Amino acid sequence: MPILPALFLLFAFLGFVSTAHAAHDGVHLYTQYCAACHGANGAGGVGVPLALPDFLAQADDDYLQKTIRHGRPGRVMPGFAQLSDADVGAIVGYLRGLAPAGAKAVRAKTKPGNATRGAKLYESRCAACHGAHGEGSHGTGVTFSRPRDLPILAPALNNPGFLKAASDDFIKTVLVHGRRGTPMQPFLKQGLKDHDLDDIVAHVRAFGTQSPPASAKVLETESAVIVRESPRGVEETVETLKNAFSAANMRIIRAVPYDEGIVEKGQESKKRWIVDACDFNFLNKALAVDPRVGLFLPCRVTVAEHEGKVLVLTINPKRLSAIFNNSELNELCERMQKLYTDIIEEATL
Ligand code: HEC
Ligand code: HEC
Repeated sequence: MPILPALFLLFAFLGFVSTAHAAHDGVHLYTQYCAACHGANGAGGVGVPLALPDFLAQADDDYLQKTIRHGRPGRVMPGFAQLSDADVGAIVGYLRGLAPAGAKAVRAKTKPGNATRGAKLYESRCAACHGAHGEGSHGTGVTFSRPRDLPILAPALNNPGFLKAASDDFIKTVLVHGRRGTPMQPFLKQGLKDHDLDDIVAHVRAFGTQSPPASAKVLETESAVIVRESPRGVEETVETLKNAFSAANMRIIRAVPYDEGIVEKGQESKKRWIVDACDFNFLNKALAVDPRVGLFLPCRVTVAEHEGKVLVLTINPKRLSAIFNNSELNELCERMQKLYTDIIEEATL
């Protein structure tokens, strides 16, 4: 075989191998990091659908990469700072592959707009879905429990992650074309003019000049655990703790030495106890916001003797804030932290 065609074949083969490899990585990484929320094949779930043809035509690689890197603080979508550029590139490549064959990119160009005018238009045309301050709808992603004409919940537009990722041109592109298959309409066909869209974009951009919404903040935790010293012995403290739980209308699930069932009966250490208690009302509310909360509940308090002191301690529920990245859960975390502190203080008076 002549040398040139042979080299060509070799390169073609290497090219094939390397793209096949990247594609494989993309699927693999997508499945590992994204599918739980965005669904297999990008069909959507807790996260918005990513396979949507209009979305893929509107979003450039830069927007996708930045969205993956920054996430959406307080809106469930995590930031993936730990992935390498190659990994992020492979995921973007995988998403691109979900677009229909022959699909073309669409891009609109912005001109400088008037944010004050934009604010008025936003209020009448956008706020009902995206919130008065761009805070997004209550909840995220695809919903099966809401009216059929709103199958997908509106994302937060005042979110620092969104504003870092989205260029003005991208926002305008979404307004011009809308997203077929979702409640997001093409606004040029809804009676708005091109310069109206520029004004709205200027208003959305101005969300970023306000200090980040409270909803985008991770709760500050003073410490990872709530801990108080008890003036009583271990078993007596367990009793006062049970009383404090009951007084707070919480059901006690069990109060046992921590090694019960691990060591032989009668051999349990009486120096360390666990008390599991649950407020089912609260639990149901938290589970409705995010079912993964179940992994962290029922709520456990440990009573333990340590260096001659009796300590009562529990994980600080505010720690869940950073794990779940969900502003709706933040309120519950805060209430739970207060409740637990009160109960533990009551038990160690
Ligand atoms: C824990 C759930 C969760 C995970 C995991 C997750 N996302 Fe998201 N993602 C969301 C949610 C929720 C939104 C919408 C935020 C909103 O409603 O404000 C979103 C939004 C997005 C958007 C913006 C879509 C648009 O219409 O502009 C992209 C792109 C995206 N995610 C990509 C990814 C990729 C890629 C991964 C994996 C590397 C990933 N996400 C992992 C929940 C998640
Ligand atoms: C009927 C409800 C509704 C109205 C009204 C509406 N939107 Fe949307 N919007 C949505 C939904 C739902 C999505 C998510 C679509 C998807 O999953 O791709 C969306 C997506 C967007 C996005 C893309 C966000 C992202 O994360 O990619 C922008 C930007 C946007 N809308 C801006 C606006 C503006 C500005 C207006 C007013 C001119 C407006 N929308 C009016 C429901 C609405």
